[in-house]
Amino acid sequence: MVRTANLTKTYADGTHALTGVDFSVTKGEIHGLLGENGAGKTTLSKILSGILKPTSGEIYIKGNLVRMKRPSDALGLGVGMVHQHFALVRPFSAFENIVLGTDLNPTGERAKEAKASIMELAKGVGLQVALDTPVESLSLGAQQRVEILKMLYRRVDILILDEPTSSLTIKETGELFKSLLKLKEEGKCVIFITHKLREVMDFCDSITVLRQGKVTGRISKSEASPITLARMMVGRNVEFELKRPPMTPGAEVFAIDNLTLLDKAGKEVVKDVSLRVRRGEIFGIAGVEGNGQTELAEAIAGIRRVARGSIRLKGTETGGKSSSVIRRHGAGLIPEDRRRMGLILEMNLEENVILGKQRDLQFRGSLTSIAWRKVRQFTSDLMKKFEITAKGPESPARSLSGGNQQKVVVSRELSSDPDFIVAAQPTRGLDVAATEYIRKLLLDSRSAGKAVLLISAELDEILQLSDQIGVMYEGRLIGVGAAETMSRETIGLLMGGIAA
Ligand SMILES: Nc1ncnc2c1ncn2[C@@H]1O[C@H](COP(=O)(O)OP(=O)(O)O)[C@@H](O)[C@H]1O
Ligand SMILES: [Mg+2]
Repeated sequence: MVRTANLTKTYADGTHALTGVDFSVTKGEIHGLLGENGAGKTTLSKILSGILKPTSGEIYIKGNLVRMKRPSDALGLGVGMVHQHFALVRPFSAFENIVLGTDLNPTGERAKEAKASIMELAKGVGLQVALDTPVESLSLGAQQRVEILKMLYRRVDILILDEPTSSLTIKETGELFKSLLKLKEEGKCVIFITHKLREVMDFCDSITVLRQGKVTGRISKSEASPITLARMMVGRNVEFELKRPPMTPGAEVFAIDNLTLLDKAGKEVVKDVSLRVRRGEIFGIAGVEGNGQTELAEAIAGIRRVARGSIRLKGTETGGKSSSVIRRHGAGLIPEDRRRMGLILEMNLEENVILGKQRDLQFRGSLTSIAWRKVRQFTSDLMKKFEITAKGPESPARSLSGGNQQKVVVSRELSSDPDFIVAAQPTRGLDVAATEYIRKLLLDSRSAGKAVLLISAELDEILQLSDQIGVMYEGRLIGVGAAETMSRETIGLLMGGIAA
């Protein structure tokens, strides 16, 4: 159905996004395109859907050599792409979005017929949506169904989905998979882009792995195992089974009672949340992003006002205190948005490493000055200990990869030997190796008797690390229990707001 030969893409700034890519997908298969962030997956799919032109190489669609200049050329050949970030017109209804750009007038005579046929189409593959509802009031899952229907309405038979599960609940993900299987039965082919091993293993018939713009392998489902796929993705062996040795938790270090937080408009975004974290314990808060986790983490870190309730660290009320005071009480704060809150990108590593610690005695020179020689030594020690790849302590934070930036944040926070650590989405956007490393650090902190509050939208991460698990849903913390008593399915249902 689709084949590329020796495809290369170099962006205007000289980035080699793809090099010599031979890629092929056959009729009636779901083909997984797997790779880490930056591997070139989106670039390849944009080339196949006519959005980008390759620098060199050939594309064959249904056996014919093609040269596509724009997305409509690809659509004409039956290739359509659903983007990672949806491109719908928000105030328009689902129906208007689906027919937008075709020659159908959505208020004209043929509209009724068209609507009926879209309804039929949607029902056939399990992609029902409320067609008259404005897209902005649909859930993300429903918006995605609109995007897919838009492609099917254009009679696409090669459907490319770029990281389609990243904003879906588990339930929505399951529904999406069912629909894609139906499309496959109808003889359509699906190119399914992801960086999640589990998804390709569960669901794809064959898999192509990209690493740094090159194909590192193409294998069928029966040959694939998580270990082989991870090796192809990362280029080395990955330790998969992080061990969470049995531990008996100690004294309570951190407690939240009946915490309520408001947004700018005065709406409750966190509602009456209570939780306890003890020494040697990781408390994992699961949940689809946008259910109050960000606000909760901000309040804990001292950058959001507390409307009601209390936050206590080792018995001292810290709600409403500043970040630096909270740190001095013994907290390590790993924020969700490291590029905005965790680091100052314009500054170098030394400066970032002592952020919030300028007054520490260990960095004191004479009187009020900072002893930069000590800071440099400290920074290069941290770089060694935490395997941070950078030219040196004086490299600007901006020049580091996302994984290394996050290591700078985490190493800074851990270096003050905190009793309590809050880690918000600590591995978001990181590659497999950096993810594994950060998770290991959190487990090591647990072993060292620290209390850890982990807030993560990655269910695998929650399950791998946590002793206690709760789920944030619409501002409430629900279903709190010991990790052993909670299955993936239970948590998945809770994430969708359904009590098991
Ligand atoms: N418009 C662009 N200009 C320059 N470089 C880009 C552009 N888009 C992507 N890149 C770079 O190309 C590489 C591949 O990116 P991408 O295809 O988005 O990867 P993936 O989708 O696998 O995460 C990355 O190094 C990325 O930074
Ligand atoms: Mg991408």
